[in-house]
Amino acid sequence: MSFAGGLFLTFEGIEGCGKTTQMRLLVERLRGLGYRVTENQEPGTTAIGKQIRRVLLDPENSEMAPVAELLLMFASRAQAAAEIIRPALARGEIVVSDRFTDSTLAYQGYARGLGFDLVRTAHRLALDELQPQRTIAIDLDLETALRRAHRRNAATSDEESRIDRQSFDFHARVLEGYRRVAELEPERFRFVDGSGSEQEIAGRVWAEIEPLLRK
Ligand code: TMP
Repeated sequence: MSFAGGLFLTFEGIEGCGKTTQMRLLVERLRGLGYRVTENQEPGTTAIGKQIRRVLLDPENSEMAPVAELLLMFASRAQAAAEIIRPALARGEIVVSDRFTDSTLAYQGYARGLGFDLVRTAHRLALDELQPQRTIAIDLDLETALRRAHRRNAATSDEESRIDRQSFDFHARVLEGYRRVAELEPERFRFVDGSGSEQEIAGRVWAEIEPLLRK
């Protein structure tokens, strides 16, 4: 099944909120129903995006300037838009992205203090009018989410990334940044309660997505 012009969905949230699991469950469900789905992850996915991701998350790069961080996020995203997102939408597919520009609004715009206007200007430059039709932000309290993120890093022996390493207050500001976006764009940006079982949360996500499939 396909859509004229495609359908673009994104997942957002703080580290450890469960968005990646919920994205996987949604993609499986959509594919099970016969939809063609293309996945994307920011920063990353394309060969160039993966190289940019390494630079962005390398703990050695502690001196990275906030504006450099912002522009690298958009460099990865511009490449993904050209290689993956726009072509899939043109084929009428559903594109689901693990993070997109709302992450930059929350992390660089709000938590790092660069401001929403600068992020929006960079978005227009890198991506023109490309916007998701719906964004799901998984809402989990900060303590639970960060505990989970730390546990996962320890279990996978992944080094904590440069951005994971930020203070509790930084992550609190990220969450506040997402709340601001939700206030500004309530139709597109939906917080979904991230407490309960994976299946319960998946049911809440589905309730926000399913109406778009009938349009
Ligand atoms: P991930 O852990 O969800 O893969 O995200 C990688 C890190 O990059 C995470 O700490 C959030 C951060 N990030 C930003 O700061 N700005 C952005 O625009 C994006 C996409 C991610």
